[in-house]
Amino acid sequence: MIILGIESSCDETAAAVLRDGQVLSNIIASQIEEHKIYGGVVPEIASRRHSEAISQVVDKAVVDAGITYDDIDAVAVTFAPGLIGALLVGVNFAKGLSMSLGKPLIPVHHLRSHVAANYIEFPELKPPFLCLLVSGGNTHIIEVRDYTDFNVLGRTRDDAAGECFDKTARAMGLSYPGGVNLDKIATVADTEKYRLPTPHSPDGKYDFSFSGLKTAVINLIHNAEQKGAEIDVPVLAATVRQKVCDILIDKTLAAAEEAGLKTIAVAGGVSANSELRRRLEAEALKRGYKFYCPPLKYCGDNAAMVAMQAFHEIKSGNTAGADLNAYATLPIDYRK
Ligand code: KG4
Repeated sequence: MIILGIESSCDETAAAVLRDGQVLSNIIASQIEEHKIYGGVVPEIASRRHSEAISQVVDKAVVDAGITYDDIDAVAVTFAPGLIGALLVGVNFAKGLSMSLGKPLIPVHHLRSHVAANYIEFPELKPPFLCLLVSGGNTHIIEVRDYTDFNVLGRTRDDAAGECFDKTARAMGLSYPGGVNLDKIATVADTEKYRLPTPHSPDGKYDFSFSGLKTAVINLIHNAEQKGAEIDVPVLAATVRQKVCDILIDKTLAAAEEAGLKTIAVAGGVSANSELRRRLEAEALKRGYKFYCPPLKYCGDNAAMVAMQAFHEIKSGNTAGADLNAYATLPIDYRK
């Protein structure tokens, strides 16, 4: 089965073609350079750039896959969650295409597709497993019971880990996307020089809270500025990275143990973080878990993961009609 996937939930216009789970093409048009000027994604600009880019991106995905539009068996699209104007561009394009081809339309939840990024490279990975899903807008610990059956064990109460990285990086003077640049510049953490709080979540033991940590870092930088003191950015970046990784890794391992799962996976843009990948893998293997992490090219937003998840959604009978809408928020365990 050949599935064309389309992704436009944030600042990447992407299209990919997969044949039975094999990637034939994977095209991404990134808007990062344009949003960099503003220090973050400007939603209206994102929607306009998606509108301009989408037909060329989809065309290139079809041509690079060595197929024609007639070969496509189904059109899959990210319909939630994300920036609403951005999502609507992809959803409407996909609807038009599926209607004109007379082929099924498959709605794909953005976070489910991040989990599915692991299946592309590792077809041996099969549910059930535990997944730490860390992106710019979400931080979840999920029991993946089946390809389309998710049980959320923990989630952030406020900011996502990616948001914490992005906002603290911005306060350090690093350019957008902050998480990536913070990871690049971080050298050695010094927890004596920069003491940062560890957030507690009294109930909901696998829930996260990153806003206090974010505020503490921003206050630390402002206080230093007011005193005319220099911030050692590489050391502060490493200290923040270490703290965020400590929190993510501790909770993930504890949740896997309590849930009795034997396999741990990580997914989402923040799974590109070098320390998180290295330490979580080492800790998981040490405790006897199997560990999976997507290759860097599938950590951030892409359409190959959308088409991958679509294989499982269509098997579960999850198709949509011409009335498909886009949603800015929708839990990963939504029911149709
Ligand atoms: O999954 P994603 O591409 O978009 C969403 O669906 O949100 O995640 C983007 C997030 C941003 O916060 C970005 O700064 C973060 O992933 N990110 C990283 C790294 N690469 C991307 N954070 C820390 N270290 C990285 N290497």
